[in-house]
This record gives sequence, C-alpha cells and structure tokens, in this order.
Amino acid sequence: MRLAVLCLMLSACASPAASSIAAADAALTAADAAADSAPSEYAATLADFDCVKNGTKVGHFYVANRLGAEAAAVAVAQGSQAGAQYPIGTIIRLFPLEAMVKRGGSAYAATGGWEMFRLKYDDAGKLQIAERGGAEVKNGAGSCASCHDAAKSFDFVCGQNHGCAPIAVSAEAAAMLQDADPECP
Ligand code: HEC
Repeated sequence: MRLAVLCLMLSACASPAASSIAAADAALTAADAAADSAPSEYAATLADFDCVKNGTKVGHFYVANRLGAEAAAVAVAQGSQAGAQYPIGTIIRLFPLEAMVKRGGSAYAATGGWEMFRLKYDDAGKLQIAERGGAEVKNGAGSCASCHDAAKSFDFVCGQNHGCAPIAVSAEAAAMLQDADPECP
C-alpha cells in the first residue's frame, strides 16, 4: 500500500517494460483507427476540379490527392513501376477539361478504380462536369479507357512509355493549355 502511494507520487515505479507495452499498444490502437477510418472510396465533386496545375507536376501531368496522400501518389507517378497502384483520392490531370480520379470501390473495377471525367463550361461560363464514369466516358478521340487500358499494368496512367497509343498533342501544347486554364489564379 505504501509502495503504491509512493509510486503514484513519484510515478517512478512503473516498470519500463510495462510502459513500453502500453505505448506500443496505444500506437497499434491508433494505427487500427487510422486503417478503419481510411476511406475505401473517394467520389469527386465539381469543387475538386480547381486549377489544373494544383498538385505536383510529373512528366506532362499534375498529380494531387484529396485524402492527404499526395506524396504517395507522386511517388507512384515518378517511380513508373509496373504493378504500383495510386492511392484512393488521387486526381490526375493533363488537360484542363479532363481528369481521372482514383475513386476505389467495386463499381470502377474495369478501369482500375479510376473514375473518368470530362468537364465543360456552361453558357454562363461556369465549369461543369460534362460526363463521369468508367469505360463509357469518351472524348473526341474515343473512350478514355480504349487508350488508357493499354497502360493497365501501370494503373491506367499512359505517361510517355506505358504502351498507350500516342495523342496528337505535344508536351508544349499541353503545357500551354495548362497555363491557359481559366480556373487558375
Ligand atoms: C487516343 C487515346 C486516348 C484517349 C481517347 C484518351 N487518352 Fe488520356 N492520354 C492518352 C495518352 C497517350 C496520354 C499521355 C500523353 C502525354 O503524356 O503527353 C494521356 C494522358 C492522360 C492523362 C494524364 C495521365 C496519363 O495517363 O498520362 C489523363 C488524366 C488523361 N489522359 C485522361 C483522359 C480522359 C479522362 C479521357 C477521356 C475523356 C482520355 N484521357 C482519353 C491517350 C488517350
């Protein structure tokens, strides 16, 4: 009894082993909570399509992540390793009016969890989502997936050397379009 009181006063009797077990336990509990709260799906809204250049430029495109995983997404883009997967919440944009968003969830399995977007300006000059979805979304050159499928082993990101049929827009022209995005300040 006396010893316990002394320990309370000095907090010096807790054995190091016991306190490090408690610390490890707390860390595990925190990790579990983080894993439990990590969203399994990210559904983008119009507000996600701000300036095309918000994010990190890798190659010709910009990478962002809405769930705090931009560094991980950039690492996948820069690493260019077959089999590497972008984290959920990743937004990749090349042209101001197109985007691919790593949505996750089973509905987009055919496009590797990516939801494809085409944007447009309405008559009032306000940015709108023109089309969103999986393999059915297309631009003037065809369905997004019809080309991006070729880069399946690189998580559907074409880049320069992931097997996609090339597009007729040079890197310089893409950069000019990015610089001219009216959504950028
Ligand atoms: C004709 C084939 C083709 C079609 C159709 C196509 N893309 Fe691409 N896309 C490419 C190629 C090739 C690149 C790489 C271009 C570069 O880096 O200069 C690319 C790049 C991109 C990028 C930058 C990331 C990456 O994969 O390199 C995004 C985002 C993108 N496309 C979205 C779309 C969306 C959304 C659609 C449909 C609305 C679409 N694309 C339709 C071939 C295509």
